[in-house]
Amino acid sequence: MNEDSSLASNPWTVMPAKRTHTCGSLRKSDAGSAVVLHGWVHRRRDHGGLIFIDLRDRYGLTQVTLDPNVSVEAHDAASGIRNEYVISVQGTVRERPSGTANANMATGAIEVIAGGITILNVSKTPPFNVNEDVAVDEGLRLKFRYLDLRRASLRDAIVQRHRLIKRMRDFLDERDFLEIETPILTASTPEGARDFLVPARLSPGEFFALPQAPQQFKQLLMVAGMDRYFQVARCFRDEDTRSDRQPEFTQLDLEMAFVDEADVMGTIEAMLIDVFGACTPKRIQSIPFPAVTYADAMERYGCDRPDLRFGLELVDVTGLLGASGFGVFRAASSSGGRIKAIVVPGGAAWSRREVDALTELARSFGAKGLATAAIGADGIRSPFRQHVGDEVMASLVASTRAGLGDLIAIVADTAVVVNATLSRLRDHLGAKLGLADPNVLSLAWVVAFPLLERDEERGAWTFTHNPFCAPKDSEVPLLETDPGAALSKQYDLICNGFEIGGGSVRIHVRALQERVFALMGYGKAEVQALFGTMLDAFEYGAPPHGGIALGLDRIVAILAGASSIRDAIAFPKNQTARDLLMGAPSPVAARQLTELGIQVQTGPAISSSSASAPPGG
Ligand code: AMO
Ligand code: AMP
Repeated sequence: MNEDSSLASNPWTVMPAKRTHTCGSLRKSDAGSAVVLHGWVHRRRDHGGLIFIDLRDRYGLTQVTLDPNVSVEAHDAASGIRNEYVISVQGTVRERPSGTANANMATGAIEVIAGGITILNVSKTPPFNVNEDVAVDEGLRLKFRYLDLRRASLRDAIVQRHRLIKRMRDFLDERDFLEIETPILTASTPEGARDFLVPARLSPGEFFALPQAPQQFKQLLMVAGMDRYFQVARCFRDEDTRSDRQPEFTQLDLEMAFVDEADVMGTIEAMLIDVFGACTPKRIQSIPFPAVTYADAMERYGCDRPDLRFGLELVDVTGLLGASGFGVFRAASSSGGRIKAIVVPGGAAWSRREVDALTELARSFGAKGLATAAIGADGIRSPFRQHVGDEVMASLVASTRAGLGDLIAIVADTAVVVNATLSRLRDHLGAKLGLADPNVLSLAWVVAFPLLERDEERGAWTFTHNPFCAPKDSEVPLLETDPGAALSKQYDLICNGFEIGGGSVRIHVRALQERVFALMGYGKAEVQALFGTMLDAFEYGAPPHGGIALGLDRIVAILAGASSIRDAIAFPKNQTARDLLMGAPSPVAARQLTELGIQVQTGPAISSSSASAPPGG
């Protein structure tokens, strides 16, 4: 190809007249104006005489009409135009003829009669249609993310993300918070997940770690007297990727000095009421946000981040059924397990196949089976009815408050399996029965978490939130007598079945922090090596402080109605933590490795399950 002539003959190297309007801005009152629009060809319809182009930019769509009676040249130019060409249109705004207005389009009252068209660039046929919101293979979407981002739903999520973060920044700025950046290259600390490591060329054999969260820095900023800090902070955790988890994600991270739990929660609550009020038509279910204790949440919903848009609460029936004649129930009860029920409204009318499918689902969630009782007009139909007797059956109906037409579904197993299974069945039923209103945000606090939980692998206590969380003042003596029973000053924020934030009031006294580390099985030297900076800082006038971090990607995904946080992030990683757009991770040149003093082991992939990744950071 002769480059010179190709460039010389290129009609689109010259930038035409400046744009006067965006593709989303023209209204009826603009009729008669001369305008210049730039954008992408969203769709082209050739009606023989007239050609219609829907011109698209970030702001919207405008119908451009090419009439050979107005400009033969423009009409001819439009004949060769394909979807996703970039064009500039000069023309006049006209109110659409009566009956042709489009009420579904913001610009639907007008059209632009083109006097001239300039092609600014051509486009190959895209690998998927940009102009419709249909399902496309996600690998393809991620590889061509710059095309995917042209699609309306993703574009809207990115715009909403910007508005949300801007509003949060403004809200916090008005309340004396300082946005302070903290390092990305920092030290590895055991805060919960696995670290991403960065080899340090100038210190051979040593590594930086990418921060799992700016936790220690924000606490040190409190010691430094910054009083109120926040940051839109990128966090890195080498965990298995899920629909609500990315290896690289963003927090609205915040810390405040001289506060208790209510101060931090109140600040976040006020901020979210303001931000959601401005950025989404969705309605907050209840203000003030309700608070549920961790123990209550586990008991009533089987998980610590229940979707509170609907009821379907779990009912404990261990006492009622554990001593009955049904082997499955007796076995669970006598081995220290639990029996819990959930009522499926209208489930008595379900077909055999539907009930079997529910049982299969319960099995896939880890249960050994699902025992059911249908409350029909002709009596109770249940495989375990004969085994437990009519009296117990009646008590079961009464205690679960099942009504005529409902189905009671029961799981008997260890408490962990029962809760895990029924909480997931509950989510499934909420969706299947249309109980989870997509226009509602069920924001709530979860409080009164245990400070510590048993790490069976290490045979020691480990933190439930992060190692800096303070025990409730009244519970400090329990650290000596019954550490597992001590409750903490942690609070999680949940919304529609997701944990969208978590934080706590911190320990700010060295001796208490050391005591907690000791319970976690860390030796003195180890603590000094891993957390010495923070402990030392506590000896120089650390103020009482506390904070929280919100998962911004999850919040945007919920507002956008997206099923994955990947749809709330401009350039996410895929399910196997790969960046398909840029092709990362990728091998690097041998020279680079030599410089870093690194030798790559080849052979079978190194096991990824050797280090589990509890929440925290
Ligand atoms: P935590 O680990 O609970 O707390 O994180 C806070 C919030 O961040 C979100 N989140 C994630 N989002 C996407 N992908 C991930 N892999 C991911 N992991 C967490 C969640 C979560 O609620 N330093 C503490 C906060 C504090 O104590 O102030 C922390 O990071 O929405
Ligand atoms: P089986 O004894 O396996 O034939 O099961 C009898 C009924 O009890 C079936 O409806 C099973 O789905 C149900 N079932 C089995 N195991 C459990 C369990 N652990 N919890 C609740 N129901 C169960």
